Amino acid sequence: MKRFFALAIVATMALPLFAADGAAIFKAKCAGCHGADGSKAIPAMGVKPLNTPDVKGKSEAALATVITKGQGKMKAQAVSDDEAKAVAGFVKALK
Ligand code: HEC
Repeated sequence: MKRFFALAIVATMALPLFAADGAAIFKAKCAGCHGADGSKAIPAMGVKPLNTPDVKGKSEAALATVITKGQGKMKAQAVSDDEAKAVAGFVKALK
């Protein structure tokens, strides 16, 4: 029982931190092109909205790879693997 509570506390503390991290990274490094809520489209640059079922349906790992390696017209972004995972989670949760 004690162990359960300890785990529950760690989980509830870690989750918002993780989410906040992804949000902060997105705001700092992605929002310029993708918009604060990921809905921006810049046809001239090839930017399409991220808050679509197609993008959000990709696995966190697949999104993290796009972010760290780049894809098409998006260059590889300067984030660590951990940051890429956090921001990929944020992208999946976009409304
Ligand atoms: C300089 C502008 C720019 C920045 C900064 C940028 N992106 Fe992109 N992003 C693009 C463009 C352009 C594309 C379209 C790439 C293509 O041709 O498939 C794209 C595509 C994507 C895709 C794939 C969407 C799909 O339809 O498959 C994801 C996911 C993504 N960006 C996430 C991010 C994240 C997360 C960040 C911040 C770490 C970021 N981007 C920063 C311009 C940018």
